[in-house]
Amino acid sequence: MSAVPAGSPFDLDDDAAYRDWRRRKLAACPRSASELLVEVADPLQLTAAERDALLDRCARSNMAVYVSRPPLAAGSEIPRRVGEQLGLHTLDVNYLADDDGITPLAATDSGTRSAYIPYTNRAIRWHTDGYYNPPPRQIRAMILHCVQRAESGGENRLLDHELAYIALRDADPAHIRALMLPDTMTIPARSEEGEVARGDQTGPVFSVDADGSLHMRYTARTRSIAWKDDAAVRAATEALQRILDADPHVLCLRQEPGMGIVCNNVLHDRAAFTDSPQHRRLVLRARYYERIDGPALVRGQVPSATVVSA
Ligand SMILES: [Fe+2]
Repeated sequence: MSAVPAGSPFDLDDDAAYRDWRRRKLAACPRSASELLVEVADPLQLTAAERDALLDRCARSNMAVYVSRPPLAAGSEIPRRVGEQLGLHTLDVNYLADDDGITPLAATDSGTRSAYIPYTNRAIRWHTDGYYNPPPRQIRAMILHCVQRAESGGENRLLDHELAYIALRDADPAHIRALMLPDTMTIPARSEEGEVARGDQTGPVFSVDADGSLHMRYTARTRSIAWKDDAAVRAATEALQRILDADPHVLCLRQEPGMGIVCNNVLHDRAAFTDSPQHRRLVLRARYYERIDGPALVRGQVPSATVVSA
């Protein structure tokens, strides 16, 4: 992350740049989850049109969803290959990931994973991925590939973090200032068997990457997090919570097998779910240090609203 560059829409002192970007962003953003969908014949080998359609949606809303009918045998190869085709190469290997850096998310009753909420069938609150990672390992993009859905539940709500930024800045620019403080949010150290597995991680919620893109680090969890003891920070987090509860841009998606969310680490949550012998939810997650990029994507800008076809 770096200082906000001159002319950036994320510069609180440049209202004209913000207004211009905001107008184009809101004109181009999808109104429903169905606008995110791109049918692909073979996710292992996207056609140029399929790839362009995914990149277009990512440029407008930082996310897209491919819809495929993969062979049942294809496992982590699918999200890996989709990522490569979208310019994602550097996987974040978390300590619970399988050796190849792709993490299978399923409800489990035993083992180390069962202590972590992603590996249960419980609801997960709003967050961006890797909010506890140190700065060199910020997660800028991720893929959630659905191998199998649950019998019921397991939907994801999704909100483009740039739209959350707009809602907050429109409500009060002081919210943005508070959430860009370098010490606004601290995730306490995690210990494993008496050893410190990860130190405290203190940083801003919103930051601007060296390439000008907006990054967001957030969790709505209330345990194992320390917000800066500051009235403006409290007001900002409360405003953000209200936005996540009710913003009209929040999209809801229930993935079917073969579908995959590709995104620039947008805000998301997960509903609780119930498995059955036929429908045991399994999602493969890949996290990357790069953003999904493409020729249509201009940092801090969005293409004008156009009808796109896949
Ligand atoms: Fe997540």
